[in-house]
Amino acid sequence: MRFNNLLKKILLRNKRTNFGNYELVYPKEISPRNHVPDHIQKPSYFQTGNPSENVPMVEIKTDEQIKRMKKSCILAANILHTVGEHIKIGQTTDEIDKLVHELTIKSGAYPSPLNYKHFPKSVCTSVNNVACHGIPDSRQLEDGDVVNVDVTVFLEGYHGDCSRTFLIGNVDYQGKKLVEATETCLNTAIGICKSGEYFRSIGACIEEKAGDLGFQVIPAFIGHGIGDYFHGPPDIYHISNDYPGTMEAGMTFTIEPILTQGEQLIEILDDDWTAVTADSARTVQFEHTILVTSGGAEVLTLPSYNPRQIFK
Ligand code: MF3
Ligand code: CO
Ligand code: CO
Repeated sequence: MRFNNLLKKILLRNKRTNFGNYELVYPKEISPRNHVPDHIQKPSYFQTGNPSENVPMVEIKTDEQIKRMKKSCILAANILHTVGEHIKIGQTTDEIDKLVHELTIKSGAYPSPLNYKHFPKSVCTSVNNVACHGIPDSRQLEDGDVVNVDVTVFLEGYHGDCSRTFLIGNVDYQGKKLVEATETCLNTAIGICKSGEYFRSIGACIEEKAGDLGFQVIPAFIGHGIGDYFHGPPDIYHISNDYPGTMEAGMTFTIEPILTQGEQLIEILDDDWTAVTADSARTVQFEHTILVTSGGAEVLTLPSYNPRQIFK
């Protein structure tokens, strides 16, 4: 096991707080890399860790591209739904990773996080004070944890990306409120999306809603355009911003706000991925991939609610 000095410093610096009743996360042991069978179509970074796509502008998808986006997004949502059916106290985040990996390849898809910019696992699992990009490891889920599971799949050349935060056992009142508020912020923002709306309106809307509900938004992490690339334009800020441009029908992008009980500052641990809050406050994230339409937006990452059929 690798001992994480930075995390130790953070934990020592921040005396346990008024943020409620939960365990702080220490990264633990990471299992060997998952195998992907030959027949699965791989993204550009599978071998090198470096995505090779160059996406100069926001893409307007054709009907054929939209059809494929819908397929990959439904698969991601179904996998996330199945995670929700299995998640429980005592399960390790490594076990969640293995479940996501197996479901993904069984469906003929590639788990997008695997080796994306050298990320070592097939899904991100972010517990309590981990804001995002938590690496699945040998830590067991504990009574009172909040855990975000962020599933992205690459199916027939297109990525679908979604995440939600699960309550493990008895989560305290503040934790439950944070989860509820974050999902409300995401849904409120989706509600303002339509052709002609400014991208920047999303951030303003989320920041305002989060404030009304008594929380702050972590500014460092943004949503993104998505397609045959994992991340591309536009940038979707989750706080007030002056990012240029407006939405048009046929655009697909994610909205993925992270709300915190505490301050907005985060730090990246020396694994180069795990983002923790500097004050050790809990954070919660929800994410959908959406398609802009003329009168609104369609949420693409909704489960079909028959995952068993899909995974057979
Ligand atoms: N799924 C994340 C997102 O919402 C990206 C994770 S990058 C990874 O954009 F490499 F950590 F997987
Ligand atoms: Co994601
Ligand atoms: Co995303």
